[in-house]
Amino acid sequence: MKVSMTNGTLNYLAKLDKEHPEASLLFMQDEDKTLAYYEGDTSIFEEGRDYEIVDAVGEIQNSGFVVMNNIPVSHEGRPVFEDRFKNREGGVEKMDGFQAIRILRPLQGNTYVVLTQWRNEQSFENWKNSQSFEKAHKNSGPNHEKKPSFMDGQPYITQYSMVQFGEE
Ligand code: HEM
Repeated sequence: MKVSMTNGTLNYLAKLDKEHPEASLLFMQDEDKTLAYYEGDTSIFEEGRDYEIVDAVGEIQNSGFVVMNNIPVSHEGRPVFEDRFKNREGGVEKMDGFQAIRILRPLQGNTYVVLTQWRNEQSFENWKNSQSFEKAHKNSGPNHEKKPSFMDGQPYITQYSMVQFGEE
């Protein structure tokens, strides 16, 4: 199963939504952009980023708060990186407000995405300040001085609110 994402203006994405009644598209917004998110076997976006799902728990819902940790990984580091996530702590899905997680392998470029979806921003903050987050990152993560050998650049975080078209 694949994931595709594409950025665009609200107008453009609303049009895309209308043109693909067969596909269930989900929409996310931050301060300066809107993103369409699609899970399926074939990409429906002309221009976009495509990913293979390495691990998934929960359904991505059309409401909530999304945090993506974008981690650049070297080519030879991929198996090590994926192995770490195969053996991940698994504490995150037990947190209050957790909705879904996706570990996404890029089909273009080198940047994996660790996507988590939450009921709201507060539930994400609660996890980030929890022992569960600390435990999950005891071998890597924001407080580690030495970056893991599989990393090929600085990870960066993007955060979105889910939005729906046609709701007033
Ligand atoms: C920026 C520094 C970070 C790095 C380098 C990093 C890397 C990693 C790695 C390699 C793992 C796999 C477990 C391990 O080997 O320790 C992991 C677990 C995880 N990371 Fe991060 N991470 C960082 C920050 C974050 C942030 C800010 C989020 C928020 C979305 C996040 C989300 C997750 C999740 C959901 C797991 C799995 C936890 C579980 O199974 O309970 N990470 N991280």
